[in-house]
Parts: sequence; C-alpha cells; structure tokens
Amino acid sequence: MRAFSALLAVLAAEAAAAFELYGNSFGIPGINASFDYVIIGGGNAGLTIAARLAEDQRVSVAVIEAGSFYQIDNGNGSVIPSLATSQFVGADANDSQPLIDWDFVTVSQAGAGGRRIRYARGKTLGGCSARNYMAYHRGTVGSYQRWADEVGDQSYTFSKLLPYFQRSVHLTPPKSGIRFANATVGYDPAAFNNSIGFHQPLQVSWANWAYPIASWAP
Ligand SMILES: *[C@@H]1O[C@H](CO)[C@@H](O)[C@H](O)[C@H]1NC(C)=O
Ligand SMILES: *[C@@H]1O[C@H](CO)[C@@H](O)[C@H](O)[C@H]1NC(C)=O
Ligand SMILES: *[C@@H]1O[C@H](CO)[C@@H](O)[C@H](O)[C@H]1NC(C)=O
Ligand SMILES: *[C@@H]1O[C@H](CO)[C@@H](O)[C@H](O)[C@H]1NC(C)=O
Ligand SMILES: *[C@@H]1O[C@H](CO)[C@@H](O)[C@H](O)[C@H]1NC(C)=O
Repeated sequence: MRAFSALLAVLAAEAAAAFELYGNSFGIPGINASFDYVIIGGGNAGLTIAARLAEDQRVSVAVIEAGSFYQIDNGNGSVIPSLATSQFVGADANDSQPLIDWDFVTVSQAGAGGRRIRYARGKTLGGCSARNYMAYHRGTVGSYQRWADEVGDQSYTFSKLLPYFQRSVHLTPPKSGIRFANATVGYDPAAFNNSIGFHQPLQVSWANWAYPIASWAP
C-alpha cells in the first residue's frame, strides 16, 4: 500500500536527483515569505491537508517539514524493501535512524520484558508513511469511542470521522487474479468511497505481487 505522501516524496526525490535539489532547497534563506496557510509537518496528514487547500488556486500554501528526502538521507536503507525490517519500530532502543526519525523510545514496558521500545515517528517528507512498510490503517471503532468518551465529545467516534476518512483517501483495490487472495489483506469497501466527488489526495493501493510467504506469515 502506498500513501500519496510517499509517492510525492518519490517524485520529489526524482526531481531532486535531476536538478540536484535537497530538502533545504525550497525556502530561500534571508528572504521573508508569507502564505495564507502554513502546514507544519509533511506527513500523511499534513500533505493531505496541504493538497486539499492548494486546490483553491486563490490561496498559497506552505508545508514545513523538519526532515528531508528519505531517499537521500537514508539511502538504500529506505529504498530497498527488504531492508525495512532493520529500519522499523521495535528494533532495540539503540537502533537509531536520526536522519529520518524523531528517535522516540518508550519507557520500559512491562508487557515487553521491561524493554524500552523504539517508537518510530518519521522525520522525513512522507512522515510515518515512509517509516511503516507503507501500511495504511485506521484505529478501531472501540479506540475512537474511548477517545470520544475520554474527551466527552461524541464527534470523535469512528462513524462521525468516517466521512472525513472517505474524503481524504482514494482507494485502488487489489487486482483480483494477480495476487494470491490468501496473501492479501482484506478491506471493507464501505470504508472507502471513490465516488464522493472530492479530490482525494491520499492514495491507498496494493502491490500487484505478493511473495507466497505472505500467505503463511500474514
Ligand atoms: C523578515 O521579517 C522579520 C520580522 O518581521 C524582520 O525582522 C526582517 O528584517 C525581515 N527580513 C527581510 C530580509 O525583510
Ligand atoms: C547500501 O549502501 C551502502 C553505501 O552506498 C553500501 O555500502 C551497501 O552495500 C548498500 N547495501 C545494500 C544492501 O545494497
Ligand atoms: C543499548 O546501549 C546501552 C548503552 O550502550 C547498552 O547497555 C545496552 O545493552 C544496549 N541495548 C541493546 C539491546 O543492545
Ligand atoms: C459516497 O459518497 C456519495 C457522495 O457523498 C454518497 O452519495 C454515497 O452514498 C456514498 N457511498 C457510500 C457507499 O458511502
Ligand atoms: C495460498 O494460495 C496459494 C495459491 O493458491 C497456495 O499455493 C498456498 O499454499 C496458499 N497458502 C496457504 C497458507 O494456504
């Protein structure tokens, strides 16, 4: 599954390679600029909001991201899929990737033998979508209900948020007959709505190929 932001980062990095641009090539030091909207954070949420705002050609939108292009900063560690495991959450607390990650580590966890667990948070264009095997998922109905209950505001329930998920995400379903069905994560078509009439910038899809092992180790 690939998020729009990761795709944007790929395109941006290809442009960077062609024109020798880097993550700090976009602002001009010493020259003040003003924008109608300034989005802090170029991850899934920030880039989706920025893309939606920028549809209105009367407004200007800036995105500020603390990191750079992961393809440049993290090299093959980010671009070779099989290296993902060495780049991922849960690696031991010393396994730092400071150029693409905020390097958060939990306090020691009783449920994990007292270990402190690395908690990956992307500091890179594409944000956490660049740090999470390109997985897309939402919280459970129960987790949103708990959030709503704890803040005393029932507008945070899953069903109330669902229309906004649907407006942000464009789904390209897995091609049937190409992937083994038993190696393909299921999805609920009702959770997506491509006919909603908005430009839905966050792209969610499936790779055409899955290794057979994926049916044995889902
Ligand atoms: C940019 O804005 C700051 C704050 O208003 C001001 O102090 C500074 O002189 C400005 N710089 C330029 C180059 O205009
Ligand atoms: C990753 O890149 C480094 C530096 O260019 C190189 O030494 C290393 O062999 C590469 N690793 C893989 C698995 O390609
Ligand atoms: C992490 O680093 C600390 C300090 O160097 C060391 O004591 C500890 O054993 C390391 N943890 C792991 C899991 O390697
Ligand atoms: C999708 O969105 C359209 C436009 O808002 C709406 O009419 C339709 O009922 C929605 N379909 C689903 C399956 O939610
Ligand atoms: C998944 O389906 C493929 C193709 O039909 C089959 O070869 C494989 O054994 C299946 N895997 C499991 C875990 O049943």
